[in-house]
Amino acid sequence: MTSVKNKPVEIGTQLSAIVLAAGKGTRMASPLPKVLHPVAGLPMITYVLGALKNLGLVEIRVVLGHGQELIRRVVDSLGVGLFIQTEQKGTAHAVRSAGVDSLEGDVLIVNGDHPLITDKDLKNLYSEYKERKLDLAVISTVLKKPKQFGRIVRNGGSLVAIAEAKDCTPETLKIKEVNTGIYFVKAELLKDLLPQIKSQNSQGEFYLTDIVSLAIEQEYSVDAIRGPISVSFGVNSQVELAQATHIVFQRKNKELMDSGVIIIDPKTTFIDASVKIGPGSVIYPNTMIKGKTTLGSFVVIEPFCFVMDCEIADSCQVHSHSHLFSMKAATKVMMGPYARIREGVELSEGCDIGNFVELKKVKMGKKSKAKHLSYLGDAEIGEEVNIGCGTITCNYAVDRKKYKTVIGDRVFVGSDSQFVAPVTIGSDAVIGSGSTITKDVPAGGLGVARSKQFVKENYNPKKSSEA
Ligand code: UD1
Ligand code: CA
Repeated sequence: MTSVKNKPVEIGTQLSAIVLAAGKGTRMASPLPKVLHPVAGLPMITYVLGALKNLGLVEIRVVLGHGQELIRRVVDSLGVGLFIQTEQKGTAHAVRSAGVDSLEGDVLIVNGDHPLITDKDLKNLYSEYKERKLDLAVISTVLKKPKQFGRIVRNGGSLVAIAEAKDCTPETLKIKEVNTGIYFVKAELLKDLLPQIKSQNSQGEFYLTDIVSLAIEQEYSVDAIRGPISVSFGVNSQVELAQATHIVFQRKNKELMDSGVIIIDPKTTFIDASVKIGPGSVIYPNTMIKGKTTLGSFVVIEPFCFVMDCEIADSCQVHSHSHLFSMKAATKVMMGPYARIREGVELSEGCDIGNFVELKKVKMGKKSKAKHLSYLGDAEIGEEVNIGCGTITCNYAVDRKKYKTVIGDRVFVGSDSQFVAPVTIGSDAVIGSGSTITKDVPAGGLGVARSKQFVKENYNPKKSSEA
């Protein structure tokens, strides 16, 4: 694999792929089709297809069987060809179901349950296959505990066959070099040998692995190429699923740390592969950052925050226990602790959203503040507005429709005020504390809507008798 850098292989014109994903995944013990189980938030099969897509192949064919309707919904939009294996009679049978006769050039065969495969690995392995002019290469790796993997059987160093663990003698089981389930093979070889594979084994299945000994017998040029351990990582159980998720999150953390993001405790930091974070940002433990989120530089995300599909610009601070979803913040915005900022929120530079404040569909101008215990929904708020503690926009009316509150620049809203929408408050207006505002207030005006204070002296008989 060392010569790869000098000699890039042209992949797009020569290589097609077949992804095997028809199996039931019995060992997952779950009603969900195996390849749809989420690894770090995304269906397992999307990792394999993503790696293949990056290679720019001629064609990608996916073999479906169990759970095909559900899997189809996930992969349909990814520009792959779908083939159905109606009965799961083994991996060789699955490859045949992919309409092999219409393939030409080289074919890459991979399992849909190997989410740690990367395009870089595949590119390197394909280069070696091409360089060595092989007709068939099986990608192997060496494992300390080879468990249920097919064993690479050699004689005097030369590849002889792959033996499935279930059919192995105790002696063969000791072999540590295993079949990763990845193959590069000439389409012509597949067309020739697939029909010759028999199902005489402990499971009565057509094993793709048998193609190796058949090809050797018929004097094709065949060998095993060593790949990295990660490509052998197949998910067959919930425990392995969790391990794969762990590895994917750690890969992302490493990538971010290498680019200058400060991650205090990678073990408890969960950032989706799709997330972008600028250098100098600090991510505290026990945080999840998901989806299409982008964070600028010098952003601080404190512990126990959940951030999904948000755009957060440079130098923002998200204090602990905040839940941010599909919102945007310009530079230097402060949020939380315990803020809930929801879809359609746009906070301008220098806004300050404090504890126990919920925002939904709110646009807020520069340097406006809502620092304590408020609900603001369907509102347009100007610059340098002060929203007092306990303010509520009553946006949802008895007719089950939502109405808007508009608050101009520099408005001062006293604590414990409600705005019964639709209502508009002009710039520089003042709202008296405890008001239930139902009518518009003009610019520079005062709106107070509360009952007058009533005072009676010596009202408490107990207190007066004691006196
Ligand atoms: C297979 C290999 C084994 C290798 C291991 C690597 C065979 C016979 N064995 O074993 O040598 O070490 O992968 O992970 O090939 N599938 C179908 N249709 C079928 C059967 C399987 O599409 O009829 C698909 C499955 O969905 C899965 C893949 O093929 O994505 C592999 O099947 P699985 O049953 O997991 O094979 P292993 O026992 O892991
Ligand atoms: Ca497997």
